[in-house]
Amino acid sequence: MKKEQVVNCQFSVWYPLFKKLTIKSLILPLPQNVIDYLLDDGTLVWSDDETTTVATAPEFPEFNSKVQEAINALGGRVFPKLNWSAPRDANWIALNSSLQCQSLSDIFLLFKSSDFITHDLTQPFLQCSDDSPDPGINYELVLRKWSELIPGGEFRCFVKENKLIGISQRDYTQHYQHISKQEASISSSILLFFKNHIQHQFPDEDFVLDVYRDSMGRVWLIDFNPFGEVTDSLLFTWEELTSGNSLTDSEDTALQESPAFRYTTSEVTVQPSPCLSYRIPRDFLDLSTGEDAYKLIDFLKLVIIDINQPI
Ligand SMILES: Nc1ncnc2c1ncn2[C@@H]1O[C@H](COP(=O)(O)OP(=O)(O)OP(=O)(O)O)[C@@H](O)[C@H]1O
Ligand SMILES: [Mg+2]
Repeated sequence: MKKEQVVNCQFSVWYPLFKKLTIKSLILPLPQNVIDYLLDDGTLVWSDDETTTVATAPEFPEFNSKVQEAINALGGRVFPKLNWSAPRDANWIALNSSLQCQSLSDIFLLFKSSDFITHDLTQPFLQCSDDSPDPGINYELVLRKWSELIPGGEFRCFVKENKLIGISQRDYTQHYQHISKQEASISSSILLFFKNHIQHQFPDEDFVLDVYRDSMGRVWLIDFNPFGEVTDSLLFTWEELTSGNSLTDSEDTALQESPAFRYTTSEVTVQPSPCLSYRIPRDFLDLSTGEDAYKLIDFLKLVIIDINQPI
């Protein structure tokens, strides 16, 4: 994967080209002091008596009002991202356990808890093979109108040399009956969407495209991702995708017109959600935020009992 490929997958590069095919969004430049705040680990500081923690959340009045204006223009509820990534690994920390945000403080809570956001800010070119200097990046806050996407309608498409070679169910942890039933029509509608709107129009010939097929059968663009290890290959492996061998069972590759289509069948054991490992136990979270007073009381009782135990 080349640095140029990563640059081309930034939201602000592709959005103007494919605006009509995707969810309405607004892009705001991220001021340097906000970037510094997002990268600063010292949110919690100890006060003088060493017993209480004090959250030091700085205020960014000008940026805050721009963000609020944008959120309002998008209907009051948004899905936030940076240049490439959403804080998918941090949804557990939000009170609604979702990435839906209504204010800058909702966005900050998610961004500051997300390793994916830190990756965008600190090492976007980590797995690139070329050793040219890193291209300059203008960091941006992307706000997308909140849309209730049904996970069974999401698919990831792998495009190599401008050819759609594979389609994978995005939420591979679940079996969706409608996918096996409508396999042929899903595959052909995605291929048609690719041919009509995407092929030869993206500034690269290798890329990964995320799409959504709604209940009316219409296909929408969700995101572009680099064609390489940084992007989850889901039900394919990167070795398969890059080997040059056919991904379908068809013997005659010359005749192969349709892409390989993979989805989770009922026989496969349903797997845990891929972001589970980023979570901490719910009890810790409730204790740290004081969300559940009874848990806190129980915890304090435990600590007291412990102190009273003979060593
Ligand atoms: N506007 C939206 N409203 C609600 N949910 C959304 C919206 N956009 C995306 N999502 C949900 O969030 C998920 C992740 O979105 P997106 O693909 O933009 O994030 P990402 O960080 O680029 O993910 P990846 O690392 O897999 O490329 C999507 O699969 C979809 O379920
Ligand atoms: Mg993406």
